Amino acid sequence: MNKKLALEKLKSEIEANTKLPLKKSNLVFGEGDINSPVMFIGEAPGKNEDLEKRPFVGRSGQLINKNLEKINWKRGGVYITNIVKKRPPLNRDPNEKEIESFKPYLTKQIEIINPKIIVPLGRFATNYFLPTAKISVDQGKIFEIDGRKIFPMFHPAAALRGTKVMKQFEASFKKLGRIVDNF
Ligand code: URA
Repeated sequence: MNKKLALEKLKSEIEANTKLPLKKSNLVFGEGDINSPVMFIGEAPGKNEDLEKRPFVGRSGQLINKNLEKINWKRGGVYITNIVKKRPPLNRDPNEKEIESFKPYLTKQIEIINPKIIVPLGRFATNYFLPTAKISVDQGKIFEIDGRKIFPMFHPAAALRGTKVMKQFEASFKKLGRIVDNF
């Protein structure tokens, strides 16, 4: 089966699963170039994402877009999704049960897209892949799991809250550009 069909099938499977938590929210499956070597993975959709059924369309998304432009990449040239694919109420953090419920789907989504490098955004997404990592220490470093690179970065919302984090976020984005240029 080709990638596009496999992803459509996966999306339908999520839609058909009535046992998943966060029933009141819309499904935000993910979007972008399904052949990209780079897959950004955030935490969970927020209000804007839930309304538009697209990941990272609010202020955090705009910061990602701006940094992609700076390294001459297009938003549509990367793939973007979240570990939890429905919005938790009032934008609270996703809990263990929610993360676990969506895990089989994210695992399959990664398998289908098969990126060379995964960029978890923020603490939750980083600890999903690297349970002992500390975002403030390990962002901007390259890890490897099952032959795939993992490059944690600060969540853009954290970058928007503080100048120091913003500087590190921008520096890591540039580093990501250099890493991928050398693939
Ligand atoms: N924050 C996230 O982690 N994901 C989104 O899609 C939007 C905001």
